[in-house]
Amino acid sequence: MTVNGIGGKTRLAGVMGWPVSHTKSPAMQGAALAAAGLDVAYVPLPVAPERVAEAVRGLRALGFVGCNVTVPHKIAVMEALDRLDPLAEKVGAVNTIKVEEDGTLVGYNTDAQGAVTGLAEVAPASVFAREALIVGTGGAGRGVAFGALEAGARGVALLNRTAAKAQELADSLRAAYPDRSVRVLDPPAVKASDLAEIGAVYQTTSLGMKPESDPLPLDAALLPEGAAVLEAVYAPLETPFLAACRARGLIGQDGLAMLVGQGALSFHIWFGREADRDAMRRAIAG
Ligand code: ATR
Repeated sequence: MTVNGIGGKTRLAGVMGWPVSHTKSPAMQGAALAAAGLDVAYVPLPVAPERVAEAVRGLRALGFVGCNVTVPHKIAVMEALDRLDPLAEKVGAVNTIKVEEDGTLVGYNTDAQGAVTGLAEVAPASVFAREALIVGTGGAGRGVAFGALEAGARGVALLNRTAAKAQELADSLRAAYPDRSVRVLDPPAVKASDLAEIGAVYQTTSLGMKPESDPLPLDAALLPEGAAVLEAVYAPLETPFLAACRARGLIGQDGLAMLVGQGALSFHIWFGREADRDAMRRAIAG
């Protein structure tokens, strides 16, 4: 007999953060688990910063399948892990932990490629081979820049209000991908001719969350025809920037696709099978 679908054989997964009460991951992963018929419960794991290492080791002790990691623990968890996936090591942040059969704790970063797979739902493959434009070089933009290069972009152009942060990211991208081009653009001075070769555009700043007062992160008129745009902000679902890109005839994808994208890749790491992305999106939309 089970209560709420939980029985004696149910295994555990979850999302570790602080705070974690606003997270959409339990609803989203719960929908994917139900669609796959897996006997796994995915729960919120609020962990205070001083307890992070203890909590990560506890995953092994408690027989967890693994967990997601969110703000502010994506860097702090790394030292408690046994091994890092090469992409997580390059990015310098972990959002997914897998507990292997023998108890080995392995860290992955699915934020990096979640954005690419989210955009790939609506954009042709040719877009990803061209130069990628990363708008915003905070934590999210950093992961996405690595993801775009992993996906085969010939280079990236970085656009950020604070130039020093874009430069810092450019340095780590050049060290990790010495054969690709990395350009830092100056937001007030950027022209259409600077963006002529852009394929995928990833908007990763927080601009758009307050649609009445936020300025646009970039003038959509500067983007070339054929570019495909992923917006990371998911509330509102259609930001003014996304609306402007669509009005200009560009392919646009919303922030839920990025959230679902990283979650579906985590699911694949834990269970070795594809997650039902439609079920995940339905669980968190609206
Ligand atoms: P996240 O982890 O979500 O990326 P973050 O690391 O705080 O959060 O980064 C927020 C991003 O939004 C940064 O690129 C930030 O630009 P700065 O590096 O110049 O701070 C960008 N951002 C936030 N508010 C902005 C604003 N009013 N104008 C332009 N960029 C803004």
